Amino acid sequence: MRAIQLSEYVKGPLDLKVDDLPTPSPAPDKYLIEIHSAGTNFFDLLQIQGKYQHQPAFPWISGMEFAGTILATPTDSKAANRYKVGDKVFGANQGAYATHILAPEVALFPVPSGWSFEDAAGLFVTAPTSYGGLVTRANVQPGEWVLVHAAAGGVGLAAVQIAKAKGATVIATAGTERKRSIAREFGADYVIDYRNDKWPDEVKRICKEKRTGNGRAGVDIVYDPVGMIDQSLKCVAWNARLLVIGFAAGKIEKVALNRVLLKNVSLVGLHWGQYANFETETVGVVWKGIFDLIAQGKFKGITFKDETFVGLDSVPRALKALGSRDTWGKVVVKVIDEKSRL
Ligand SMILES: NC(=O)c1ccc[n+]([C@@H]2O[C@H](COP(=O)([O-])OP(=O)(O)OC[C@H]3O[C@@H](n4cnc5c(N)ncnc54)[C@H](OP(=O)(O)O)[C@@H]3O)[C@@H](O)[C@H]2O)c1
Repeated sequence: MRAIQLSEYVKGPLDLKVDDLPTPSPAPDKYLIEIHSAGTNFFDLLQIQGKYQHQPAFPWISGMEFAGTILATPTDSKAANRYKVGDKVFGANQGAYATHILAPEVALFPVPSGWSFEDAAGLFVTAPTSYGGLVTRANVQPGEWVLVHAAAGGVGLAAVQIAKAKGATVIATAGTERKRSIAREFGADYVIDYRNDKWPDEVKRICKEKRTGNGRAGVDIVYDPVGMIDQSLKCVAWNARLLVIGFAAGKIEKVALNRVLLKNVSLVGLHWGQYANFETETVGVVWKGIFDLIAQGKFKGITFKDETFVGLDSVPRALKALGSRDTWGKVVVKVIDEKSRL
């Protein structure tokens, strides 16, 4: 197989190299999968530089998200066997920047009918983070108003779609005109440039004009993957829920708690990856919710399309693009180009 294996940390993505390695043998408790597409994540950039919370022992293959085809089922017949050879799956496991990977059944889901490998490769992290946040944690209701920050990012575009699918009105923030137009394309009702410091006034203005009762003061839910909770407290309604999803801006915020009391609001955290350890029963519920939205045509793939990344050799370029903040949605690498196989 071909893979991006590291024997030492690198300075940046452009130092990554593709190697020829032995293809893994079928394993007792794992499926062998041929990878067609790999999703990129910001934590891949941290991991190759030795700056991530999870650093495997050298040598290790980088990349975490993938979609592909089952080549072999677990050799132990007692291991769960939901999938058969030839099935299309997506999932997450260390080693996705490769042509082949081994993964246990719990890390896999079927590629939704009609979905491409590229779109499926970007589902595993974004969709459940946003569904778990908005539905499980914030209990979004039809008629509510949701403010989605960094709405054209990976989790942001998933959040816009899920909030709309649940009957909410969405105000989306993003840093560029291109990103704001993408947020609109995916369903946002209003878009705001949050690089303008006065953006909370704009949210308040829209809510005052378009909402009634307590809603005139602001939104009911804030979805925040950036680190904008303190500012967002200026434009929330009575009983609002503010979801702490991430700190893409690079700073852990300090929040003025008096505003939490005065406005009668809740700060709600979400750590999706830990549901697999602390609340496994919710994992299936969240994924069922996502697959239902997909089947109803209310959730579509969010692959970045302004540039294409084909072949493992394009992983460094894809990761560099991801780190530049110029991309939107999910940056996905097509590991196997179907056209080149014909
Ligand atoms: N809580 C959880 O379980 C969970 C799960 C998955 C991800 N996350 C976190 O959620 C955050 C977003 O993830 P993602 O996959 O959506 O990332 P992404 O696709 O890279 O999007 C991040 C967005 O953040 C905005 N941003 C604001 N300040 C930034 C800065 N200084 N540098 C880079 N981007 C900045 C950018 O939008 P603009 O250019 O429009 O500002 C960018 O599009 C990350 O911090 C991630 O760790 C949390």
